[in-house]
Amino acid sequence: MRFLAICGSLRAASTNRVLLEAFARHAPEGIVVELFEGMAALPLFNPDIEACGRPPAVAGMARRVGGADGLIVASPEYAHGIPGVLKNALDWLVSGFEIPHKPVMLVHASIRGAFVREHLSEVLRTMSTRLHPGSAFEIHLVGKSPAEAREMLDRPEARDLIRRTLADFAAFASINPTSG
Ligand SMILES: Cc1cc2nc3c(=O)[nH]c(=O)nc-3n(C[C@H](O)[C@H](O)[C@H](O)COP(=O)(O)O)c2cc1C
Repeated sequence: MRFLAICGSLRAASTNRVLLEAFARHAPEGIVVELFEGMAALPLFNPDIEACGRPPAVAGMARRVGGADGLIVASPEYAHGIPGVLKNALDWLVSGFEIPHKPVMLVHASIRGAFVREHLSEVLRTMSTRLHPGSAFEIHLVGKSPAEAREMLDRPEARDLIRRTLADFAAFASINPTSG
């Protein structure tokens, strides 16, 4: 199984990014987690541009999404909402064939952020993704440096929980809702 990890923060010291890197580092055998690095290169969504064909950066993202068995999304909350960079990326995917029925799991680098969780869930459901139910993984990394966050995520309890969370998501992603 190959999962694509998408981070809603462009901050160099992003705790959400460190969390997704830990998911990649601790993935159990048979599961690969790759980080999507192209968020900052995406142009601002404009249906007029989309009507003339996807810009290369968007086409690249859509290919990565289409080729993944599922998406893992970690995002901060900004002013009780979804960060613009992440919403922009999602808007580019709304009309594509890559996103419907795509398994998606939200993971959280903060114990706060109830609004962004709710907004993201609503947006992803509206985009016809198959959203993993419940809060799959949560750890409070707010205010931590990357080194401090990494140290917390490399502790045996966190590592084991990441492995179990990924195995659970892999089981969820392997269910084909259109068969049987
Ligand atoms: C512009 C801005 C707005 C924010 N608004 C909220 C908010 O509404 N609720 C919240 O819980 N945290 C809020 N935060 C805090 C971030 O969500 C928090 O620092 C998060 O851990 C940052 O993620 P990162 O380390 O991946 O960049 C805000 C931060 C910024 C920069």
